[in-house]
Amino acid sequence: MKFFKSAVVTAVALCAALAVQARTLDEIKKDGKIIVATEGQFAPFNFFEGTKLTGFEVEVAELVVKKMGLKLEWKTLGFDALLTGLGQSRWDAVIASHGVTEERSKAVTFANPHYCSGGIIVAMDAKIRNAKDLTGKVVAVQTGTSYLENVQKLTGVKEVKNFPQDTDAQRALISKRVDAWVSDKFVAKEAAAKNAKAGFKLGDMLFIERIAPAMAKGNTGLADAWNKAFAEVLADGTYAAVSKKYFNEDVRCN
Ligand code: ARG
Repeated sequence: MKFFKSAVVTAVALCAALAVQARTLDEIKKDGKIIVATEGQFAPFNFFEGTKLTGFEVEVAELVVKKMGLKLEWKTLGFDALLTGLGQSRWDAVIASHGVTEERSKAVTFANPHYCSGGIIVAMDAKIRNAKDLTGKVVAVQTGTSYLENVQKLTGVKEVKNFPQDTDAQRALISKRVDAWVSDKFVAKEAAAKNAKAGFKLGDMLFIERIAPAMAKGNTGLADAWNKAFAEVLADGTYAAVSKKYFNEDVRCN
């Protein structure tokens, strides 16, 4: 009985230890497949076209993983759950337009940025253009984003409304439940083009950021291999082609 108990305790402890250990590059290679998580609700970066996951960063990840000689299995989840899953080894990497922030860098290891962008102010009223204009206003942002972080830093904003999805924050602006929406510059551009009737007015950039894929904290073997493959994708013209297709410009960081 005593032996049995200690065996169970050992087994449980072992499972717990294994569960929190991120897969190394070698383990992923042996498996032949990398598991990458994204949100799927952030067009044009990651979104669903019918049942097919696609978007700029989805295509970039597919190019990178192909260079790594691996198969890619996608998982799609709520934005807020993505980085936590890395620590629990539920997937190997996340590519979901995360800006490299100090706070996040404490929890995950970022690979090299796959594009540069920033948060932009969108409103229905053309007079709401910059940070000062948000004084006394109600602003919509997606929960857990750098948009939330940066709007919270402003003084004088009347209220910051959080939405689980960026598309909900966008809808709040359309239905005039808020005065402004802060989101990615390219997301806002596409939303404005797609809903010409809504009458979005794009204001100034509130901040700029470098957007990068994330791996479990300390999984540098995987990050290095990803960076090497990504450098090839940047060099061989395939990144430029995908960028041109989505944005008609090259969005790489300089
Ligand atoms: N760039 C912003 C950030 O770093 C927003 C990312 C939102 N991504 C998404 N898949 N909804 O937080």
